[in-house]
Amino acid sequence: MEESHRRLWEAALSARQNAHAAFSNFKVGAALETTEGQIITGCNVENATYGLTVCAERVAVFKAISEGHRQFVRVAVVADTQAPTPPCGACRQILWEFGGDLEVILANLHTETGRHRLRDLLPLPFDGRLLNE
Ligand code: THU
Repeated sequence: MEESHRRLWEAALSARQNAHAAFSNFKVGAALETTEGQIITGCNVENATYGLTVCAERVAVFKAISEGHRQFVRVAVVADTQAPTPPCGACRQILWEFGGDLEVILANLHTETGRHRLRDLLPLPFDGRLLNE
């Protein structure tokens, strides 16, 4: 894994340790890299009502936006699975708001498991351009 990706993966790994996954026990960490090289992390936060659970990716996006970041180059998602754990549909839509060029790095605790462009993970997306037609 190249150095820039390793740095992001390590940040996501470390955020994953903070996951509140009391119900699924499925801990996820995410790390977003801004165009300026800053890293903003997130972990999944579950809730006893289940449906209010928020994924690691969305926590990272909302943290980043609330801290004034708007442009991102890549996101790393880390879970303890052999197969790639990709962002769920809701997270793809939330990420899409900030651009389809986003690189999505999937990894587990040991290695990278996948690499995609967000536009390939979310074909035919809905976005703000349609609101102005
Ligand atoms: N989860 C994430 O945080 N990100 C993903 O990409 C997939 C799923 C979380 C939500 C829930 O807390 C747990 O994993 C099981 O679905």
